[in-house]
Amino acid sequence: MPSDSPVTPARIIPPAEQPAFLRYLRTVVRNPLEVWPEAIYRDKVHVERFLGRDALFVMDPDLIHQILVEEPEKYLKSEMMQRLLAPALGRGMVTSDGAQWRRQRRIVAPLFRPSEVARYVPQMLAAADREAVRLAALPEGAPVSLTFEMMRMTFDIIAETILAGADTFDVPALAEAINVYLSSTGWVVALAQLRLPPNFPRPGRKRFHEARDYLRRVTADLVAARRRGKSRPDLIQALIDARDEETGEAMTDVEIVDNLLTFIAAGHETTALALSWSFYLLSLDPVAERKVLAEAEAAGAPDRLTPEGVAGLGYTRQVISEALRLYPAAPALLRQPVEPVEIGGVKARPGTQIFIPIYAVHRHKALWDNPDGFDPDRFAPEAGKMRHRYQYLPFGGGPRICIGMGFALTEAAALLAKLLPRFRFEVTEEPVPVAQVTLRPRNGLPARLRHRRTTQTARAA
Ligand code: HEM
Repeated sequence: MPSDSPVTPARIIPPAEQPAFLRYLRTVVRNPLEVWPEAIYRDKVHVERFLGRDALFVMDPDLIHQILVEEPEKYLKSEMMQRLLAPALGRGMVTSDGAQWRRQRRIVAPLFRPSEVARYVPQMLAAADREAVRLAALPEGAPVSLTFEMMRMTFDIIAETILAGADTFDVPALAEAINVYLSSTGWVVALAQLRLPPNFPRPGRKRFHEARDYLRRVTADLVAARRRGKSRPDLIQALIDARDEETGEAMTDVEIVDNLLTFIAAGHETTALALSWSFYLLSLDPVAERKVLAEAEAAGAPDRLTPEGVAGLGYTRQVISEALRLYPAAPALLRQPVEPVEIGGVKARPGTQIFIPIYAVHRHKALWDNPDGFDPDRFAPEAGKMRHRYQYLPFGGGPRICIGMGFALTEAAALLAKLLPRFRFEVTEEPVPVAQVTLRPRNGLPARLRHRRTTQTARAA
């Protein structure tokens, strides 16, 4: 595996020692990633004590396997995760546990079978064409927010696929509400660490509540509109029609909204981030960029790319995999044991915060050569055999593995191959990865848009 990649993209430098209390809290509010200790980039497990309470970081792939795959029933999604997400997502699939989670996963799983995902590819390609039309109308050098552009496109896809053409959303307003909600999650983490109640006064709390209320209201409107209108084979209908196997009960509207909002949030922002980081990385590495372009054009992109062509985009997928290694859209998994457990010799009491810091596992010094370097060849088909399955986990693992993994990877490859031959994004600000539930570039990756003359367009001219 080549380990001397010249490209070392933006990263967080971990603190050698924890800053003093107030600086620590200020940093948590701004970006929790900046207080993650240096030890988690080199050790197998690490215990961090804060205000007399332990948090256990687990980086060893065998121990991660133990938690996620061998004994998942011993853990719940953590209280911290509930505080972060439950105000908006209620008890939807990401935030629920036990029987409630199992029932929801059973209902939704059929929509994410590989055969269904394959059916969605034409809609993904069409959404990329709509985005290309919007971008083509902008002048050379126009300033854009890469993240916003990608979010608009991935949202369009969620609306067209699992929401079967729901066109009632105001995407900029929705993006802004998600942004406001996530921007204030640093405070939520800080309050949880101080053991203060979630409703404790803090700056931005009113805007946070307004954003949450907006998100829930527009989603409830979508359910109400469907109840009034015609049935369509999509997620909304699957949730409305679902009946409990034992009791025969339907989901309440609150449960349906919880789940729809879960899918709207989990299903577009993450993929948009993976794409934004991929464009950023390719802008730094002309060799990798040329290889993606050559592969995309050989598959017929931008104008004649077919679903079969998307399935064959091997190198493009390697780039996306490497982008998700360096910038995992979900930077950490959080769990809490419900009984006493022992992890790598460390005993943890029920309720202990367990962090699987994916961002640090993916850049761990004992697990990767040149961990901070961008090198898509790590994901060449043969190279994967050298890797532990749980040293690379952008989609988690075990029964709670991301249900949208196949959807997201296919979507990201299709969109990258469609857009890269048409446009280059010249990133104008060194991005800072910020952990706000997802790993977002601070300021949304400002870039200047450059139009390319594609080979196909050039040939036709
Ligand atoms: C690059 C894109 C994505 C990444 C990196 C990602 C990452 C993840 C991760 C790490 C988890 C596990 C969380 C945990 O165990 O605590 C997860 C769960 C989940 N993801 Fe994704 N995701 C992506 C795209 C999607 C898409 C496209 C959808 C839906 C359309 C989706 C829906 C979900 C849902 C519903 C869960 C909860 C699954 C469960 O608990 O059973 N995700 N995702």
